[in-house]
Amino acid sequence: MLKDLFARNLEWARAHVAADPEYFRRLAAQQAPEYLWIGCADSRVPANVITGLDPGEVFVHRNVANLVHPADMNCLAVLQFAVEVLKVRHIIVCGHYGCGGVHAAMSGEGNGLLDHWLEPIRELARQHDGSLAPIQDQGVRLNRLCELNVAAQVRRGAETPIVRQAWARGHGVAIHGWVYGINDGLLRDLECGVGGAS
Ligand code: CO
Repeated sequence: MLKDLFARNLEWARAHVAADPEYFRRLAAQQAPEYLWIGCADSRVPANVITGLDPGEVFVHRNVANLVHPADMNCLAVLQFAVEVLKVRHIIVCGHYGCGGVHAAMSGEGNGLLDHWLEPIRELARQHDGSLAPIQDQGVRLNRLCELNVAAQVRRGAETPIVRQAWARGHGVAIHGWVYGINDGLLRDLECGVGGAS
């Protein structure tokens, strides 16, 4: 099976060169993506594929349940590089309905390290218990929590010194909150974005 991946890679690379002989030479010279994608690690939500973007067009960070932990060096390093070096115009926090991470957060303990990672989601659920508890259908309730989680991560991103300092410098990077439907393949703007002026 792994051999197949190399075979497919060869086919893919050859097809690109056949269509555009300069394709990889141009990509190798520089990357200038307009977008930073912060999404879930779920294999069904690949940033490039669902947005139809080519290599070089989106800088990507993914983790379980698309979280922006204020002390996650990995996410912050990606954020800093994207904002300060690549100077992306848009940061997209994209969650998805049916998120296994959100489900795991609400299904009790016993997931080891994952329970620690997902704590912000449980905290968020506690904060929004008044609006979540009346939702009878568990799937609908969890999907609502997926949306709330995206909005919360947009706010966290906006509160990082990296983004605040970018805004102070006049770099009008915007942070958007989107959610993706695994059932229909469609992206939705949750209209919870911030920034973007100038
Ligand atoms: Co997920």
